[in-house]
Amino acid sequence: MPVSLLERTALVTGAGRGVGRSIALDLARHGAKVIVNDLGGTLDGEGTDISVAEMVVREIEAAGGTAVANTGDVTSSEDAYGMVKQAIDMWGRLDIVVSNAGILRDRALHNLPEEDWLKVLAVHLNGGYNLLHHAWPAFRQQHYGRVVLTTSNSGFLGNFGQSNYASAKAGLIGLMNVAKLEGEKYNVMVNCLNPGAATRMTTSVREMAPEQAAAISPDLVAPAVTYMCSDSCTTSGMIITSASGSFGRAAIVQNERVPIPNATADDVEARWNEITTLENSEVWWSVQETRADHEASREE
Ligand SMILES: NC(=O)c1ccc[n+]([C@@H]2O[C@H](COP(=O)([O-])OP(=O)(O)OC[C@H]3O[C@@H](n4cnc5c(N)ncnc54)[C@H](O)[C@@H]3O)[C@@H](O)[C@H]2O)c1
Repeated sequence: MPVSLLERTALVTGAGRGVGRSIALDLARHGAKVIVNDLGGTLDGEGTDISVAEMVVREIEAAGGTAVANTGDVTSSEDAYGMVKQAIDMWGRLDIVVSNAGILRDRALHNLPEEDWLKVLAVHLNGGYNLLHHAWPAFRQQHYGRVVLTTSNSGFLGNFGQSNYASAKAGLIGLMNVAKLEGEKYNVMVNCLNPGAATRMTTSVREMAPEQAAAISPDLVAPAVTYMCSDSCTTSGMIITSASGSFGRAAIVQNERVPIPNATADDVEARWNEITTLENSEVWWSVQETRADHEASREE
């Protein structure tokens, strides 16, 4: 069945530019009514510009879709509540939340001021919490919700000079891991997007020729998000990479433990290769069960 978001309403944060804009446009193209949130600040999170969100609303409307602008700040619990309320007041429900707003304040750890550590965590990680905390009552009541949290390679692989950003992005994976459990019985699917795209965030780090930028357009990222925001998507807890028109999955795995009774440090040293091999490793659904066991129990 073709993916359709007719009758669905969505909130996309940081939707005035880059990846968020492409996601908002694609959700609207598939029939969703969209709250286009964007504060309109600089890459390092200073200032505001209300025209940024409004421009995307106009683009969606010009293409025949329905959208409303919101210029709230995702770091504010009150503003996040306002975004959820705006959707419910206007359209009676909120089905989809894409937590995408982001900033960068890169510095090597020894030069990173606490203010830049806290600010980056506030936008990415507190932003994710603020949105889910306020959207959750609607999801529970509706018995429906689709969530996409935007993570990054930086968080689960590492990137020099991004300790604040990487910690926040890895934190969102933790948030997904728990939200997927708490949402399961309410038909709330929570997944992570790991995008790669030419936006002001990436072009600030690396200059790109126009043809290079087109090959990694954020428009190529959006289809994975639209799918994860649809009724068709019944998987939860996945990290989906979407970049340059290619799609994949990343996962945290755990291997089978090596029993060493009364172990000493010397025993651990002697068996280090066995302990650290990822042969026979598995993805877990929760601290209680593997993903495979969980899926099998759902099929019974
Ligand atoms: N571009 C990539 O390759 C890439 C890679 C990995 C992860 N990401 C993530 O994707 C997301 C989008 O990034 P992008 O590349 O499109 O960057 P971008 O700078 O083009 O867009 C981010 C948007 O978020 C908005 N924003 C920032 N702080 C906000 C706040 N407090 N409240 C509301 N809006 C706010 C900005 O105004 C901006 O329009 C970010 O979470 C980023 O970390 C991007």
